[in-house]
Amino acid sequence: MTDLREFMRRVPQCVTVVTTFDGSKPHGMTVSSFTSVSLEPQLVLIVLEKTTQTCRNVLETKRFCVNLLSEKQAAVSDLFAYAPHDDRFEKVKYRLEDGFYPVIDGAVATLFCEVHNHVEAATHNIILGLVKDIKIFSDQQPLVYFQRQYYRPAKIME
Ligand SMILES: Cc1cc2nc3c(=O)[nH]c(=O)nc-3n(C[C@H](O)[C@H](O)[C@H](O)COP(=O)(O)O)c2cc1C
Repeated sequence: MTDLREFMRRVPQCVTVVTTFDGSKPHGMTVSSFTSVSLEPQLVLIVLEKTTQTCRNVLETKRFCVNLLSEKQAAVSDLFAYAPHDDRFEKVKYRLEDGFYPVIDGAVATLFCEVHNHVEAATHNIILGLVKDIKIFSDQQPLVYFQRQYYRPAKIME
């Protein structure tokens, strides 16, 4: 059977940086496995590899932000995917909101979530977040990840 990655590579995905704050420093990683789940209550989900540091941080702090990256932030996506964990916030501007939520400058919009619960799924944790607040910062185009490259959306029909 063909590897699942062959299929997923063909699925255009949003690019977010999931962040959290442990009381002394921010943590975060690039995440494309983001979707909404329910409106009453407002729930979203992210899927984090169990071995990532950010997954451990999110489950410990029980809070996280979903920063939706703009088309101008491909370098921020690479930073939060490939740079050493502790270097990431030294190379990006961010602000801490409400004492718990690191918001990345230039994000299109940010969700502020509390961990509702999580489900183990083999190598990953499916983490459900209860949305506590939503901030929309701009109408910039979001960044899209497709075929292992970055794109911006293009409209094809009115
Ligand atoms: C575009 C893109 C999307 C990604 N999406 C996810 C994801 O949804 N879940 C995940 O566990 N890792 C994802 N990754 C990989 C993590 O960002 C990467 O493993 C990161 O270094 C983990 O950081 P940490 O272990 O320091 O927390 C993605 C990487 C890229 C480039």
